[in-house]
Amino acid sequence: MQDNQKTIERILKLKKEHNAVILAHNYERGEIQDIADFTGDSLGLSIQATEQEADVIVFCGVHFMAESAAILSPEKTVLLPEIHAGCPMASMVTAEALREEKKKYPGAAVVCYVNSTADVKAESDICCTSANAVEVVNSLDEDEVLFVPDKNLADYVSRFTDKKIIPWNGYCPTHNQILTTDLIKAKSEHPDAEVLAHPECRREVIDLADKVFSTTGMVEYARNAGDEFIIATERGIIHKLQKDNPDKKFYSVSEFTVCPEMKAIDLNSLLLSLEKMQYVITVPEDVSAKARIALDRMLEIKR
Ligand code: 13P
Ligand code: SF4
Repeated sequence: MQDNQKTIERILKLKKEHNAVILAHNYERGEIQDIADFTGDSLGLSIQATEQEADVIVFCGVHFMAESAAILSPEKTVLLPEIHAGCPMASMVTAEALREEKKKYPGAAVVCYVNSTADVKAESDICCTSANAVEVVNSLDEDEVLFVPDKNLADYVSRFTDKKIIPWNGYCPTHNQILTTDLIKAKSEHPDAEVLAHPECRREVIDLADKVFSTTGMVEYARNAGDEFIIATERGIIHKLQKDNPDKKFYSVSEFTVCPEMKAIDLNSLLLSLEKMQYVITVPEDVSAKARIALDRMLEIKR
């Protein structure tokens, strides 16, 4: 505990010296969320990345998030404390494979979930997050949409649009392994709890949920509603939910709702990151320029 306190003090000192800001995703470890200047969902953090005055952004999340920050704030140094923290779903589509798929659907718009590499964003017309995917798709003129890489989010969006959604076959391993049996069991143990699910979950899980939200959507909803919730997303969010609502109860839908990538950063790696200014995330200029167009188009829509 005392060691943690010393580490925290050193992080805060170095943060000041480097004029840095710490952004953390809602799935990060509790101690990382607590030391961050801002926590949020992918959309909120992208917006934060464009609004910072700091010289350095330390991004506590996974690689694609730091990449997006580097694209949106090219004049800043963007650090990812653990270089191997990546998103398995983002690795399920490559720019080359997407270029091939686009040839099959020449009239389709390409919508790319931000959980993707900068190369893939550069091949896309517009990005989306779980918070704005429906609005993004419905903002387009095209009637056909090639949606990469999350098949579950694509399926969720298809419920709220007349457009033809052509899904990629990617998924988030953490959300995709949540099954209806998990939810039915959790509901039998907590019959009065409302079920909040993330749209990266399977259709049949979403069908059993009371509400579907991005992670920040869950935080905002729980603040104003109910006393008890079953949470069908990565369990890191429960730290924030519980902190915001000490008198309410939050249960993870199962014991397996952990994304190991989102747990890669701890206080020690955050401290090392600021001590050594590692790992600097950069995106080649040509890729960044194209990816930025897709991100900017999304940010014009916001939530
Ligand atoms: P949101 O916080 O945008 O809902 O993102 C979910 C996610 O899986 C990020 O990796
Ligand atoms: Fe990727 Fe899923 Fe982990 Fe988010 S929770 S980083 S989508 S694997």
